[in-house]
Amino acid sequence: MNDEKLYIVMMGLPARGKSTLAVRLREAFRRDGIPTRIFNNGNLRRMYRPLQETSLSGFYHPENASAVEARKGFAKINMKMARAYLRNSGQVAILDATNASRERRKMIEEFLDDYPILFIECINDDEEILSLNILEKTKLPDFSHLDRQTAKAEFIKRIDYYRLVYVPLKVERNYVRLDSLHNKILEEKHGDTIGLYPRIRDYLVTDVVKNLFLIRHTETGYNIANRIGGNPSLTSKGIAQAQSLGRFFQKLRVPYIFTSSKKRTMQTAQLIAEEQKDCTIIPIKEFDEINAGICEGMTYKSIEKKMPQISQGREADKYHYAYPNGESYEIMKPRIEVGIKKAFHLNRHSGNIMIIGHQAVNRMILSHFLYRREEDVPYIYIPQDRFYHIVSIHNKKLFEMKSYD
Ligand code: F6P
Repeated sequence: MNDEKLYIVMMGLPARGKSTLAVRLREAFRRDGIPTRIFNNGNLRRMYRPLQETSLSGFYHPENASAVEARKGFAKINMKMARAYLRNSGQVAILDATNASRERRKMIEEFLDDYPILFIECINDDEEILSLNILEKTKLPDFSHLDRQTAKAEFIKRIDYYRLVYVPLKVERNYVRLDSLHNKILEEKHGDTIGLYPRIRDYLVTDVVKNLFLIRHTETGYNIANRIGGNPSLTSKGIAQAQSLGRFFQKLRVPYIFTSSKKRTMQTAQLIAEEQKDCTIIPIKEFDEINAGICEGMTYKSIEKKMPQISQGREADKYHYAYPNGESYEIMKPRIEVGIKKAFHLNRHSGNIMIIGHQAVNRMILSHFLYRREEDVPYIYIPQDRFYHIVSIHNKKLFEMKSYD
């Protein structure tokens, strides 16, 4: 076992996923038997200063000298605790804070001089995800005494104040700049040889999926008639299938079910949710079925008869062929990726995640987790009487098709 000790220092503007990543790293290290602890400056601030003061943006203004001193003080307490932890039984100490200014990071480098430091900068400028993050922040107890609108405005101002002192990682000896939405490394630098680095790199780029249940909506009238698209409801068989799904998942806690905006996925979810104690259904438009354009509502047979060029086009290259006024699998891909990111983000504090999608949509979602050549994606088998169970963590990959009856 590699028993080298290491400080990891998180860095990034507020609401960029630093704390979520810190927890993910801690879990991965612990799973590998590496004692790890997180030292979070925000927790100290919440403990020692009144929320009425720290929820307001003025506390983060770079020219608010007394607040700057207070925040520096919390950083020092955490550094001392982190150092003591590594001098004892700890192996990895994660310092979780914005650490946005070069000055702050210099202080950390000077103080924590006994073991190497790896800085991790979290970067995410996706407007939609950012506003979801900010909305979530405003629901925290920190802001409970403010109305939502004021809380949001104060939080955005706080981000702007951090922006004033923000200096991206550059001169630090060891760092990773990470796109924290896509788990993609944008830049890395290694001044020291860090024995733990190969596994950290792996932790950083792995999409963590503890338990994904990927289900296709159950039977509709369109399915029986072989009609595509539209917005049909479930048949009585479809209702019975969804009720079976509900019974199957009854003992498992499913806090959220993500669906498309179509009736058939929401009805399936509703019947599953009825068997749960506390389950929220969240429709995500990006999970809507492939748009068949001028062929929406038609049967495959009538398309073949009336518009043979469309059937031939799909047969020749199903992945790239787009329905007139509609989509191809290739066109769908980016929106499905956005849907996956949204769902995983909203679900990030819970282990189980359920998505109720459609045939083409579920093919794209599966291919996100399991490599398939493009030309094979439109032919992945997506039955309605079975579902996929997917696990993808850094040391375990599971992919099974299961029957629920
Ligand atoms: O037939 C059901 C369905 O979900 C249609 O709405 C959709 O157009 C089709 O499956 C997608 O599958 P394929 O790309 O194989 O036609």
